[in-house]
Amino acid sequence: MAATDTSQPIHPWWIRASHWLNAFAVLILIASGWRIYNAAPFFPFTLPKALTLGGWLGGALQWHFAAMWLLAANGLFYLAMNLGSGRLASRFFPVSPRAVLRDAKAALQGKLSHADPRRYNSVQRLAYLFAMLDLLVLVLSGLVLFKSVQFPVLREWLGGYEFARRIHFVAMGLLVGFIALHAVMVALVPRTLLTMLSAGRKGSAA
Ligand code: HEM
Repeated sequence: MAATDTSQPIHPWWIRASHWLNAFAVLILIASGWRIYNAAPFFPFTLPKALTLGGWLGGALQWHFAAMWLLAANGLFYLAMNLGSGRLASRFFPVSPRAVLRDAKAALQGKLSHADPRRYNSVQRLAYLFAMLDLLVLVLSGLVLFKSVQFPVLREWLGGYEFARRIHFVAMGLLVGFIALHAVMVALVPRTLLTMLSAGRKGSAA
């Protein structure tokens, strides 16, 4: 329905606002999280100090906790609006392994059409659904690390406090991978950036 209504912006204001608030919160969380990890690393490496935020453990925790509330509140707003408007179902589904393989192959051959900016292809659908689920894992494992005693069931589901730390770290790594790929894809089709920045209704320049 909304997919063909060209009188509406390609991304409604609440998607644009929540997307950039989310990106802002995620970048702060990653940079401050790296500083927190460096204070007690559980892998045989630390992360480059120049890329971290907070200066020291206490400062990094303050940044992390502040951005955590922004991410959670904004994420709930995004999910509620997406579910309530029916946009989640219409924009991201259906998605099947077969369609993802077909679109990935077409993309590698340079044959994937970007003619309709109102429609996500199957690779985009999978990538964005992955980002949403990964963020959910980050929030749930983060809750265990934040209030371990208050969430005993969740803590046990995630294999205990120490295992939840590993889950949180691996989910962060996967999100960093998503962001890198996402930024490359946007750079390859730059007009999509305009649709995420303004209420423009066409988004086509190809
Ligand atoms: C930092 C963490 C980020 C996350 C987790 C993220 C996640 C997402 C998600 C889930 C969507 C789909 C939104 C929807 O339609 O409901 C999206 C779309 C989009 N994002 Fe991001 N994003 C991030 C950063 C960025 C950055 C840094 C840029 C700019 C380079 C960017 C540019 C875009 C654009 C242009 C779209 C629309 C793509 C299209 O219409 O084809 N994002 N992003």
